[in-house]
Amino acid sequence: MIFHIFLERKWNTFGVLSKYKLKKIIENRKLYGIIKYGNIGGMIRFIKKGTIKMALVTTTEMFKKAYDGGYAIGAFNVNNMEIVQAITEACREENAPVILQVSKGARAYANHTYLVKLVEAAVLECPDIPVALHLDHGDSFETCKSCIDGGFTSVMIDASSKSFEENIEITRKVVEYAHDHGVVVEAELGSLAGIEDEVNVSAEAASYTRPEEVEEFVAKTGCDSLAIAIGTSHGAYKFTPEQCTVNEQGILVPPALRFDVLEEVTRRLPGFPIVLHGSSSVPQDYVKMVNANGGKMPNAIGVPEEQLRKAAALSVCKINIDSDLRLAMTGTIRKFFNDEPSKFDPREYLKPARANIKELVRHKLVNVLGCAGKA
Ligand code: G3H
Ligand code: 13P
Ligand code: ZN
Repeated sequence: MIFHIFLERKWNTFGVLSKYKLKKIIENRKLYGIIKYGNIGGMIRFIKKGTIKMALVTTTEMFKKAYDGGYAIGAFNVNNMEIVQAITEACREENAPVILQVSKGARAYANHTYLVKLVEAAVLECPDIPVALHLDHGDSFETCKSCIDGGFTSVMIDASSKSFEENIEITRKVVEYAHDHGVVVEAELGSLAGIEDEVNVSAEAASYTRPEEVEEFVAKTGCDSLAIAIGTSHGAYKFTPEQCTVNEQGILVPPALRFDVLEEVTRRLPGFPIVLHGSSSVPQDYVKMVNANGGKMPNAIGVPEEQLRKAAALSVCKINIDSDLRLAMTGTIRKFFNDEPSKFDPREYLKPARANIKELVRHKLVNVLGCAGKA
């Protein structure tokens, strides 16, 4: 097999390699060791002794362990330093692997380089947990390429709004480029209601994934994981009160996710990692905190945590959470402003906001995802 080795930020071709030759290369070049064992077309990534001690990883191994272990990895959206710190500190303390994901909107807001450097700083601060850096909802080959070239270890190409054939075409092109560079690819089939960057998918335009399409899609694209639509949606308004039933405690209970679709997808793609977007639970304590302090978020409803726990125990290996972090941050800051109208030092309100995001993430790792202690 011809090996392409990622060394000092570029690919080197080493021709046919025996284990002995591989060992010699490691010795001669004073390499620190293998950080990503080559399971994508014979590619291997090394880091140099004494230069970097730890690095971002892809999701390949994380997903394999999560699938076999019946838990899911949290994929949390990051937009600034406080959010990166809150998530990674919770993961470090709970010894959990993590995916930090960056949307097109986050790159426009914070700048690609700032975000990559913030994540690299977190990796240095948390050397004992696997961290992957992922592009959330990549909208084109160019956006994916820019992230692959710019240090991400995983990208999502979301061509789910295109026709089945076009989705295959664009996903396949991204997979080819990504795999050549040691990066993994998430694709999507079916479309979720809600807002993703500038794209607002109405509830009527949303559609569940058709299980009969998944084998052909994965075979033709070569994608590494697949996001499916089973009733979750983006944002804080996932269900209307009319869609919900009221339980004995007077709490609104949303309709169940389509586990029949998930089970059929799993049957057709045994061992293949499935991704759930739109998986915030919209904690009602934070909705109340927002509303009690000048906010207006009537009828914000999320996915019940038990449903996510059930999905994590099945083939769902990655669960995306963004809105809950936003709610924790906004609720905390609104309350601070209300309680302390004379204060104006941003550190004073960002500190409790960061602390509350951290506790929210800890709760997800332990009680929802099941990935605490799995680093
Ligand atoms: O899927 C959407 C994520 O919550 C990212 O949101 O595009 O506003 O950064 P954003
Ligand atoms: P939420 O809006 O439910 O947090 O979903 C986030 C998401 O799917 C990011 O891709
Ligand atoms: Zn999403």
